[in-house]
Amino acid sequence: MRDVAVIGIGITKFGELWWQNLRELYVEAALKAIKDAGVDHLDSMYVGCMTSGLFCAQEHLGSLMADYLGQKHLPAYRIESACASGGLAFRLGYIEVASGMSDIVLVGGVEKMLTGADATFALASAADQEYEAFHGNTFPGLYAMIAKAHMTKYGTTREQMAAVAVKSHDNGSKNPNAQFPLKISKEMVLNATPVADPLGLFDCSPVSDGAAAVILCPVELAKKYTDTIIKVIGSGAATSTIALHQRDDITFLDAVYQAGKRAYEVAGLKPEDIDFAEVHDCFTIAEICCIEALGFCEVGQGGPFSEAGNTALDGKVPINTSGGLKSKGHPVGATGVAQIVELVEQLRGSAGERQVKNAKRGLAQNMGGSGGSSVVHILEVQ
Ligand code: COA
Repeated sequence: MRDVAVIGIGITKFGELWWQNLRELYVEAALKAIKDAGVDHLDSMYVGCMTSGLFCAQEHLGSLMADYLGQKHLPAYRIESACASGGLAFRLGYIEVASGMSDIVLVGGVEKMLTGADATFALASAADQEYEAFHGNTFPGLYAMIAKAHMTKYGTTREQMAAVAVKSHDNGSKNPNAQFPLKISKEMVLNATPVADPLGLFDCSPVSDGAAAVILCPVELAKKYTDTIIKVIGSGAATSTIALHQRDDITFLDAVYQAGKRAYEVAGLKPEDIDFAEVHDCFTIAEICCIEALGFCEVGQGGPFSEAGNTALDGKVPINTSGGLKSKGHPVGATGVAQIVELVEQLRGSAGERQVKNAKRGLAQNMGGSGGSSVVHILEVQ
């Protein structure tokens, strides 16, 4: 296996982008990444996207995106793992470069969700259709059940979940690409329109359009393009049951735990070695469960840990410095790649007002549905 570096990043604004279609979003991010890397060709491409068929009636994205990027004949693959599609695309691009099969690989992620299609219906296709979605369950509904169970088992409070949202919006207010770059208060979260009890509007990630892209190459070749080598030092992926009722304990995201464990093992690191992380906070309770499964705090203690400020920009382990899915937005197929873009910004020291001091190692964790799949990467600046 060869060592692999990320040498280019590109991202669009996230939000309601009515004037841009699916391919335009993707190509904007991809061209930015190509320009940032300074490469003059690509060897292959991975496109992470969850459900362009339901949102845009468009499948066959490998060919479509290669063509519109001016890369006809490029081997190009579309990767789907619900909201973890982008993260999984990154893992497959990483494996292709590490294996020696290709030198320069573009990994992009895209989702165009604001098309008039029923977003709740489209997203629910990532749940268990026969046992969950058919009976009327939605993603806010599924995470509300996880939140209720966490509150019952560990005493987690709505105030603790609100602290997660307040922190993420604080970070997002410093991110020019964020969909909702507004600061909010705990009172705003607690008094917001209920969505699925106990979750209100500000406990939920929004419905978003957006794209992100990165360029990967072997570390040896990266030295030709940049002096700041950002190496992928850990990668892990895992699956679990899609349906919540088949899990022993719905408060513990076992796919996140397994993916994290594998990434830590590859990197030879422990959670305390990580300087900052982007985790999959599709709902405030998801961030709490993810930081527990990744070992940043004790299981069951994610609520008090967050409320005490440990996950803030200047906290013990800054979480979701980009604003996370909550404030930055969650165009589902783009999210996993956007997390890598944020890691690279931080490791380059170019994250501006939201820069983490002495950021040397960052972790990105992307998740499909209510934890049916997850993928974790650890990046380090050399
Ligand atoms: N956070 C903050 N503000 C939000 C928001 C969010 N998540 N979603 C919408 N808003 C704002 C809108 O900008 C709008 O503000 P305005 O009236 O000032 O323009 C207002 O709230 C109402 O927006 P609307 O689009 O009508 O909301 P909605 O009720 O249709 O949808 C949710 C709100 C929370 C139900 C929707 O965003 C949602 O389903 N989120 C979850 C997405 C999801 O499940 N993703 C996959 C995770 S696994």
